[in-house]
Amino acid sequence: MKKILFVCLGNICRSPLAEGVFLRLMEERKVQEQFEIDSAGMLNCHIGNLPDGRMRHHAKKRGYELVHHARQVTSSDFEEFDLIVGMDDCNIDALKELAPTLEDMKKIVRMTDFCKHSDIDHVPDPYYGGTGGFEQVIDIVEDACEGLISSIQDN
Ligand code: 4NP
Repeated sequence: MKKILFVCLGNICRSPLAEGVFLRLMEERKVQEQFEIDSAGMLNCHIGNLPDGRMRHHAKKRGYELVHHARQVTSSDFEEFDLIVGMDDCNIDALKELAPTLEDMKKIVRMTDFCKHSDIDHVPDPYYGGTGGFEQVIDIVEDACEGLISSIQDN
């Protein structure tokens, strides 16, 4: 059993999308019992909210129903999860600050390091951008989730 936490800034766009995309891959590959996944954000201002309506709209067009309710990441998440996946430098730096020990810090990985079809180094924050930003985020997150699940299954 591998426990994975996806983390972004608000937990209403990128990380709940990653959770939805990874969940579908688990179902397609029939490996639901091998993973436990969740998502969280660095901010506390969206706690309890469903993902942003624009993110849900674009995700739904590709068949993803995003039903996560936002929560804030805590230091105890480092005890609970094996892998903590940040979307950009800002998330990774904040997670490193939060990690209780150096050993816990090793659990932090970068989402885009698992991309196979893109060499982008972060998942861009779509919150203040337009429609194209949401589609780009889904492209990157789908690529990264495929790479992530394959890298774990191959081990
Ligand atoms: P996310 O997007 O980190 O992908 O969920 C954002 C959501 C909210 C804010 C920023 C980014 N915000 O500033 O409220």
